[in-house]
Amino acid sequence: MRDRLLLFSCTAAEELAQKIAEALGTHLAERELVQFSNDNLKVKILENVREADVFILQTAAPPLHDGIMELLIMVDAVKHASARRVTAVVPYYPYTRSDKKDEPRISITARLMADLIAAAGADRVLTMNLHSPQIQGFFKIPADQLDAAPILCDYLRKKNLVNAVIVAPDAGSAKRAGSYATRLNLPLAILDKRRTADDESPEVLAVIGDVKGKTALVLDDEISTGGSLQETVAALRRLGASEVHAACVHPVLCGNAIKRIREARLEELIVTDTVPLGEKKDQIENLCVLSVAGLFADAIRSINQGESVSALFR
Ligand code: R5P
Repeated sequence: MRDRLLLFSCTAAEELAQKIAEALGTHLAERELVQFSNDNLKVKILENVREADVFILQTAAPPLHDGIMELLIMVDAVKHASARRVTAVVPYYPYTRSDKKDEPRISITARLMADLIAAAGADRVLTMNLHSPQIQGFFKIPADQLDAAPILCDYLRKKNLVNAVIVAPDAGSAKRAGSYATRLNLPLAILDKRRTADDESPEVLAVIGDVKGKTALVLDDEISTGGSLQETVAALRRLGASEVHAACVHPVLCGNAIKRIREARLEELIVTDTVPLGEKKDQIENLCVLSVAGLFADAIRSINQGESVSALFR
């Protein structure tokens, strides 16, 4: 399939979308968004999309629910303007942590998001590092999940960290952190972190592995309120780590995250640009932002040309 490729962006993803468009050698397609005083949103597509292969970028960022509606309305508008295929490109997937029924009478909202995106008219989804890989199975339409690990590992390899250990901040992230340890040929330590309530203060109870005198490199899928990171760093220092670095894919950085990260005094915090950082970028010392734009551009090009994208997942 080599239909005309058109790339649209919703509001929250504009910065990344611009970079992806540049990497693809194209420009962002024109659309108009009008927010009425009753909060209703009108999306008007300003380009001909008939029979086109349309990619619509949106990422989960505040105001989250406005952003979700914007994506759904945009998909619907493009679909009804006779696009041949519509792909929702969602670098940071909304409600990714609501992926299981771990309490009675709660919603698995990550699955609801999948239903909504498909119901709006998306034919495919392209996303990155879902909180748990099985969320991919929530979609009845094809869903490709990119992995930022190659980008983070390339950067970490160049740093030549000596006497380093990869740290999984909790049991749930052990598999993911283990794959980084394998890629970087480093040992792995796993923290036993428990969250007893819906609060921002998880507790580290024990460590499996050796961190004493080592450069600890904490790897997580996201930093949200920074509570986990704060507790992880404190535990690693108590356990005798000589340096603490951290890397995550999605820098959600909400609530008190900036304050907590600053207080954690990390050697370096490495993140990607799946979530726009805006002014927060200047509020964190030793912050390195790696772009995932090239990887998304490669995936979009491959999908458009009907080529395999599996090489990009390695
Ligand atoms: C937990 O399961 C995740 O992998 C992250 O550790 C968590 O989402 C971070 O949240 P917060 O920054 O609010 O502690």
